[in-house]
Amino acid sequence: MASANNALRVFFILTVVCAARAAPAPAGAAKATGGAGEAFDITKLGATNDGKTDSTKALQDAWTSACRVTGRATVLIPKGDYLVGPLNFSGPCKAAITIQLDGTLLGSNDLAKYKASWIEVSHVENIVITGPGTLDGQGTAVYPKSKTADYKALPNTLVLFYVTNATISGIRLLNAKFFHISIDTSKDITVKDVSITAPADVENTDGVHVGASSKVSITNATIGTGDDCVSIGPGSSGVTVTGITCGPGQGISVGCLGRYKDEKDVTDVTVKDCVLKRTTNGVRIKSYEDAESVLTASHLTFENIKMEEVANPIIIDQYYCPQKVCPGKRSNSSNVSVKDVTFRNITGTSSTPEAISLICSDAQPCSGVQLVDVNVEYAGKNNKTMAVCSNAKGTAKGSLEALACLV
Ligand SMILES: *[C@@H]1O[C@H](CO)[C@@H](O)[C@H](O)[C@H]1NC(C)=O
Ligand SMILES: *[C@@H]1O[C@H](CO)[C@@H](O)[C@H](O)[C@H]1NC(C)=O
Ligand SMILES: *[C@@H]1O[C@H](CO)[C@@H](O)[C@H](O)[C@H]1NC(C)=O
Ligand SMILES: *[C@@H]1O[C@H](CO)[C@@H](O)[C@H](O)[C@H]1NC(C)=O
Ligand SMILES: *[C@@H]1O[C@H](CO)[C@@H](O)[C@H](O)[C@H]1NC(C)=O
Ligand SMILES: *[C@@H]1O[C@H](CO)[C@@H](O)[C@H](O)[C@H]1NC(C)=O
Ligand SMILES: *[C@@H]1O[C@H](CO)[C@@H](O)[C@H](O)[C@H]1NC(C)=O
Repeated sequence: MASANNALRVFFILTVVCAARAAPAPAGAAKATGGAGEAFDITKLGATNDGKTDSTKALQDAWTSACRVTGRATVLIPKGDYLVGPLNFSGPCKAAITIQLDGTLLGSNDLAKYKASWIEVSHVENIVITGPGTLDGQGTAVYPKSKTADYKALPNTLVLFYVTNATISGIRLLNAKFFHISIDTSKDITVKDVSITAPADVENTDGVHVGASSKVSITNATIGTGDDCVSIGPGSSGVTVTGITCGPGQGISVGCLGRYKDEKDVTDVTVKDCVLKRTTNGVRIKSYEDAESVLTASHLTFENIKMEEVANPIIIDQYYCPQKVCPGKRSNSSNVSVKDVTFRNITGTSSTPEAISLICSDAQPCSGVQLVDVNVEYAGKNNKTMAVCSNAKGTAKGSLEALACLV
């Protein structure tokens, strides 16, 4: 990504927790046609499967060759461990490329080599990344020692940037240094049957982040990291998240919204048939109290969600202010509006009494919020399940009485 994005990224890391948007870059992608596939096996291009010898050049060469083929082409990564640094899989390509990942790619820990990402696919149309193999970011060796450490920006594992029509399936992602998968300024993207694992105590290891993208489907995935399992940032529309088992982690979120100038609306997001296990949050929408841009998050549906001892199962927070540096703006935080949000058939347990927290702004109340069959109960003894709400307008039915806090 562009260096402007690096600047954003550094700032973002220091302030932690929300996803930076990529700097705009010109679009451009080629049309691919069908036909016979040609395979580029990295072991025939000089890659060594010992997990120690740098095989970056073999992979980069395989991509370059595949990208020039007309019709279909495959980059084949056979079984074995391959140590690789940053890979720039940029298009436009003539071919519809499949990256067949049978082996394991190990992300080099020589941080000086990286810009913003490890494997970046950009300006490409029609690509499949599939196989039983693993993208191992090897983050454990470079994770910051403390949350306040003034550390260098770390690379995301797999980034799609200006990509149209991509499928990522079957693969396993492990210990990304930063986000595992980032879908940025892309459309018609499917992520399915993947598993994503990173330590529970390392932030910014989001499973899948979607930003400025449309028609994205994330389905049948097991995700456990130290940050959001799935996060859906500004400018996203037509996103469906189904069949996710999430935990540990911070849950599934829409946001953060309003962090930067010129952010676009988020609309038509469906999160369905998911299980959250001991996550800090369940499903949440968060926008900055001091939002820098004016936008709307609307038509968001969270349905058939099972909570298992989730600390904060249902959250809308229009006063998100992680650094606590939003003095005096509180009563004016009206830049991000949240409307038409449905929580339907959400069951299970909360590990704190506060099962629902809908904190909307005075200046811009949340509207059209529906709680339908929401029955999440505090798992502990002594205290009663409760909801804390302000300025949340809408209707509730079939839900636990203590949770029906809408006005
Ligand atoms: C990737 O390669 C393309 C084309 O060669 C170039 O324009 C782009 O700047 C490169 N990106 C990175 C992150 O190095
Ligand atoms: C999307 O990509 C796949 C695989 O490369 C290809 O078979 C399919 O035809 C593409 N779909 C469209 C609409 O171009
Ligand atoms: C879900 O993904 C797993 C791999 O993570 C796969 O084994 C399983 O077949 C998939 N299930 C469906 C219904 O596709
Ligand atoms: C709301 O956004 C506008 C830009 O669109 C900005 O000028 C203004 O400062 C923002 N409001 C707050 C409270 O940050
Ligand atoms: C409610 O969601 C659960 C999954 O959490 C699902 O098994 C059940 O069928 C759903 N009920 C309805 C009425 O859709
Ligand atoms: C909040 O808005 C009111 C007018 O709506 C304005 O008078 C006041 O200065 C604003 N406060 C801040 C801290 O921006
Ligand atoms: C539970 O209730 C007790 C008083 O009955 C209170 O002291 C305690 O802080 C409550 N726990 C939580 C997690 O709210």
